Amino acid sequence: MSRKNIESVLNEERLFEPPPAFAAQAGIRLEDLAMLHSRAAADPVGFWGDLARTELIWDRPFTQVLDAGGAPHYRWFADGRLNVSANCLDRHLEARGHKTALIFEGEPGDTRRLSYRELHAAVCRLANALRRLGVGYGDRVVIYMPLIPESIVAMHACARIGAIHSVVFGGFSSVALRERIRDAGAKLVITADGGHRGGHVIPLKEATDKALAADCDSVEHVIVCRRVSQPVTMRPGRDLWWHDVVDGESPVCAPVPVDAEHPLFLLYTSGSTGKPKGIQHASAGFLLGAKVTTQWVFDLREDDVFWCTADVGWVTGHSYNAYGPLAAGATIVMYEGAPTIPDGGRFWKICETHGVTIFYTAPTAIRALMKLGEELPARYDLSKLRLLGSVGEPINPEAWMWYHRVIGRERCPIVDTWWQTETGAIMISPIPGVTPTKPGSCTQPLPGIQADIVDEAGEPVTQPDAGGYLVIRNPWPFMLRTIWGDDERYRSTYWAKFQNRFYVAGDSAHRDADGYYWIMGRIDDVLNVAGHRLGTMEIESALVAHPRIAEAAVVGRPHEIKGEAVFAFVVCRGTRASGDTASLVAELRDWVTQQLGAIARPDDIRVTDALPKTRSGKIMRRLLRAIARGEEITQDVSTLENPAIVDQLRGVESKPAKRKPVKKKQKPRAVSREKRKVPKKKQAASTRKSAKMARRKVAPRKRR
Ligand code: PRX
Repeated sequence: MSRKNIESVLNEERLFEPPPAFAAQAGIRLEDLAMLHSRAAADPVGFWGDLARTELIWDRPFTQVLDAGGAPHYRWFADGRLNVSANCLDRHLEARGHKTALIFEGEPGDTRRLSYRELHAAVCRLANALRRLGVGYGDRVVIYMPLIPESIVAMHACARIGAIHSVVFGGFSSVALRERIRDAGAKLVITADGGHRGGHVIPLKEATDKALAADCDSVEHVIVCRRVSQPVTMRPGRDLWWHDVVDGESPVCAPVPVDAEHPLFLLYTSGSTGKPKGIQHASAGFLLGAKVTTQWVFDLREDDVFWCTADVGWVTGHSYNAYGPLAAGATIVMYEGAPTIPDGGRFWKICETHGVTIFYTAPTAIRALMKLGEELPARYDLSKLRLLGSVGEPINPEAWMWYHRVIGRERCPIVDTWWQTETGAIMISPIPGVTPTKPGSCTQPLPGIQADIVDEAGEPVTQPDAGGYLVIRNPWPFMLRTIWGDDERYRSTYWAKFQNRFYVAGDSAHRDADGYYWIMGRIDDVLNVAGHRLGTMEIESALVAHPRIAEAAVVGRPHEIKGEAVFAFVVCRGTRASGDTASLVAELRDWVTQQLGAIARPDDIRVTDALPKTRSGKIMRRLLRAIARGEEITQDVSTLENPAIVDQLRGVESKPAKRKPVKKKQKPRAVSREKRKVPKKKQAASTRKSAKMARRKVAPRKRR
């Protein structure tokens, strides 16, 4: 973003009322929303209890809505029993059996449609096969697949028999896959021979084999779906073809009623340490959140064609592909590949071909497609679109306006939805027929969600535009329950900061004079690269695992498309020959890709003789961030142990300085860090996040 754009952000005063044509037909009108809010405020527990009774089908009704044993552990609808898959599929068989549940388009252009009846049969067949292979209640199944219908079939097959699924994004490396399989103690892995992405075949089975080559004794079987028809190695006794295991299985499988609190899935996400966290979600609460938020936020109607572009490897693909829209009886679209194959018009072509009415994507995709110009979307008939959504990171007003004008043709409301893997479903978002929107703001909390912004002492920040910690004051049914196998980390990450008084999201935010929320970014050491969370410590651990690297520090820098990019500073073990920096950098980038996956690949790596440390040994991350952003250095560097290193870090002096060789490889945990604070200074950075921080300096905006 240019300076001019930053200025436009600083002066952001635009307010968009819901288009009258949309508002006139919306499922939730002003008075409905007011009623939902007042009911939820008066009795939040009763509010969720009523919704759970009316929206979900129970095998055994619950008698108590919330059992607040002891914060931060909450149990919702605990003595009730239901089955999540039956709530998404079986419930529609009578009225919507022949309705299309899923429209699939592969990257090469192949398409498939599955009715609710067909999806149900496919799920039952696989569920029966899983049972036959010994998978039962509470067993963990890792799903590592391309974005094809079978990924959703696999998730529902697990849910149907009470097995817990953990989907690992197909872009993750075999090392990352192994770590997740081990942590979850998975009994079975479901994968594919490969998937199509960006014009390439992603060799998923090969990666699975590598992952399973060591330390994965819990895995008894691997089911392999044929997608790309590439030769793969099948290990006798362990590996089975999907089409073989379902062959001859009955298309009927009675759903197993599970306790409301039974874990539906684990989903690993990055935190501020090197080890990803297995976020654990409960069955009934998660399903309720996914379903009602789909209805509220996306104004779902019977004839809608709903396309959420997220992969099922992310939480968005869980809540708004696999569960929410299906529970609500919608038709979903699923596209396997990249938005630019064969050209940047692919998304818009899919919208036209399949008559997409609701389109939900990430700002990174919008920015990437925006760069390609207006001519591509103009080629397609987007007249069926009626609602647009954004998720995963702050959307900069420039991208918001483009989305509104070029894709929405100034006719579609935009819902900018704030939520997290941990929250299970959307928490802060406009209600499209009611809430006026402001480009860059996720507006206001949904009914039943008591969000707030607090200061260091946990006191509400009341001054408009002053920043603070984004917290949620009350428990909600779709919140995470714990971190798999590490409850202590659950408590310390989300609750300890304010002594269990509220859930701490890990984001900073501010609220304007209209009570609208503006997310400013993470307050911990987590980057948001292309809408995906990456822990800086995770990348540092990967870098120091390389035999030539002694120390590493990773920070984020603004990136035009991805929002944030990974910038690594590394120190070599022993002495460094001056000529080999470029080859080392290339090697390290590949290394990180191998260790973690392509999304973690650093954009920049700067090889240096030392990291900037205070005399007490702390890495000065704020300084590194300023350097990575190419900003002027305003920090006091006199406290640095080695002030001369600054020029080298800035890339001004490239010749290696003489220094003592580092003998011991530094353990990742030994990298100490100063706490990340929200910078107060106006910065010439190019993301909206930085611009928003800067905006705190200007007077509150007024509605036009
Ligand atoms: O920093 C926030 C950002 O994404 C983080 C959650 O990431 P993840 O668990 O991977 O889930 C992404 C999809 C829900 C948040 O802590 N984030 C998510 N949505 C928004 C956002 N930041 C600003 N605006 C949003 N709409």
